[in-house]
Amino acid sequence: MRVLVVDHPLVAHKLTVLRDKDTSSPVFRLLTEELVTLLAYEATRDVRVETVSIETPVTKTEGTGLVKPTPLVVPILRAGLGMLEGMTRLVPTAEVGFLGMARNEETLEAITYAERLPDDLTGRQVFVLDPMLATGGTLREAIKFLFARGAADITCICLLAAPEGLATLQEELDGRNVTIVLASIDEKLNEKSYIVPGLGDAGDRLYGVV
Ligand code: URA
Repeated sequence: MRVLVVDHPLVAHKLTVLRDKDTSSPVFRLLTEELVTLLAYEATRDVRVETVSIETPVTKTEGTGLVKPTPLVVPILRAGLGMLEGMTRLVPTAEVGFLGMARNEETLEAITYAERLPDDLTGRQVFVLDPMLATGGTLREAIKFLFARGAADITCICLLAAPEGLATLQEELDGRNVTIVLASIDEKLNEKSYIVPGLGDAGDRLYGVV
């Protein structure tokens, strides 16, 4: 497993505004999309491409095309949905599948409550969107699920991670073809498994408390 923290002043600035408790939901949603587009630029560095022949108005030449089937993007509901637009803006031909996962706030175990994905992911490049890598439980289950369907390699785009969650994933996914792309590794988890300093509940800040 590889971890990549994107070091860029615009990423740091947008993340700072996201963290601010006074940032409103509409601004939070917009900034999440913008931040994901910046993270996706780095996360797609190894996207599979092939040489294609084209004709410019002047001459025939060769260029770069995305290999088919194009990458599969999987936002983890609910908060990952707020990242989808930022990702598909950069890779508009990507297919999109959905995984609904939530953590039981008492046991902190991840449960899958919805799934809409191709049955066979053999050889597919998959990009998972989940803003907060806290205990790592949700992402671990999602990654296992996608590998079990045949995914070849998995890149997770997250806004923040706690060291504890990264350590859990590192331990359990050692040697697997997984990359985690992030804007920041924060300090720690608190007693309620919120990331500190974090940005609070990402789903609530995107969509309100429901
Ligand atoms: N999920 C969130 O939305 N925020 C956290 O800090 C941890 C998990």
